[in-house]
Amino acid sequence: MTAVESAVKNQPLSPPPIVPSFAVIPGAQVQRALQGREKEIVELIEATYRLHGAGDSVNPPSYFLRFPDRPSSRIIALPASLGGSHRVDGLKWISSFPGNVAAGIPRASAVLILNDPDTGYPFACLESSIISATRTAASAALAADRLSRGRSRPARVGFFGAGLIARYINSFLIGTGWSFDEIGVYDLAADSAAGFRGYLEQSGTAIRITVHDSAERLIRDSDLVVFATIAGEPHVHDSSWFSHDPLVLHVSLRDLAPEILLSSTTIVDDVEHCLKANTSPHLAEQLTGNRDFVHGTLDDVLAGRLTVPTDRPVIFSPFGLGVLDLAVGKFVYDQMARSGELHVIDDFFAELRRHG
Ligand SMILES: NC(=O)c1ccc[n+]([C@@H]2O[C@H](COP(=O)([O-])OP(=O)(O)OC[C@H]3O[C@@H](n4cnc5c(N)ncnc54)[C@H](O)[C@@H]3O)[C@@H](O)[C@H]2O)c1
Repeated sequence: MTAVESAVKNQPLSPPPIVPSFAVIPGAQVQRALQGREKEIVELIEATYRLHGAGDSVNPPSYFLRFPDRPSSRIIALPASLGGSHRVDGLKWISSFPGNVAAGIPRASAVLILNDPDTGYPFACLESSIISATRTAASAALAADRLSRGRSRPARVGFFGAGLIARYINSFLIGTGWSFDEIGVYDLAADSAAGFRGYLEQSGTAIRITVHDSAERLIRDSDLVVFATIAGEPHVHDSSWFSHDPLVLHVSLRDLAPEILLSSTTIVDDVEHCLKANTSPHLAEQLTGNRDFVHGTLDDVLAGRLTVPTDRPVIFSPFGLGVLDLAVGKFVYDQMARSGELHVIDDFFAELRRHG
């Protein structure tokens, strides 16, 4: 027997893969698993961006399902695979039906499927509107922190669009240590602005809250501007509104005219993802014919490859990566598994012998 043959023969056999059990994790459990853990989740999101930046992930383009008879609605599929110490594959399937809001229910609803990387079998289905809002807000809080280093820390925050995502971003900013002298709110719908104000007041803030009736006033009065509208095309066109060089979290992606991006520092989460689907960065690429206006990714900043200039506005446009949903979903699953609270569905997979 050669040395190689004997090494192969004596290698410890890895256990044969087994079919995992299948669990359903409802929103109430997801909420409990994530509540009060803002700092931990921001660290998880940072680690996930770093893995993605290092190439230890697969994150193909999102697939948009649209309906000719319901043009304002859509359902998006975000498949992804995450490496590192918490390897997991999966898919987020998230609907956006803006008409829901008039009926008093949230616009977005979602599930996340987690797949076992050894067998491919799905092993969990999680309510995922909370996971999606959480990873979006954690990414925004991370960006607010890292992109404001080197400039004076924003003391006045302005929410442009005051729905569920704005609420989550506010909680994550506060939960990761931000405090503000003033909170500004602007929303086309007076009841959304009033509802958001009510939430801020109930959360016990003693900070001055101003509901603006002018978009220009909100932007000019804020050092940190959070866009969380549902605008489908740019509605803010005047670069002079940003002459005080604010930090802008452009979470809703389509609010700003491309010219504003061209006169700012533009940071994205992933260039290929973000320059698609008529986002403002995509429009800027169409306008200029190149991608030179993109200064880099958040991972470039996290890794110290990029220093953010302080003498112009900084605009972070995150497309939203499926790997972030996987990371937060796996975090929730692991907690439920550890605490013995998983709702396992007995006999979910019932055809387990190939030849019967
Ligand atoms: N980039 C990401 O990773 C990511 C992730 C999740 C959600 N989002 C985006 O965040 C946005 C907000 O989501 P949500 O769940 O909070 O929605 P929502 O419907 O709860 O709230 C949106 C608010 O924006 C207001 N609005 C719409 N157009 C406006 C305009 N032109 N000016 C001012 N206000 C306006 C609406 O009145 C509403 O109150 C959506 O566009 C969603 O796609 C982005």
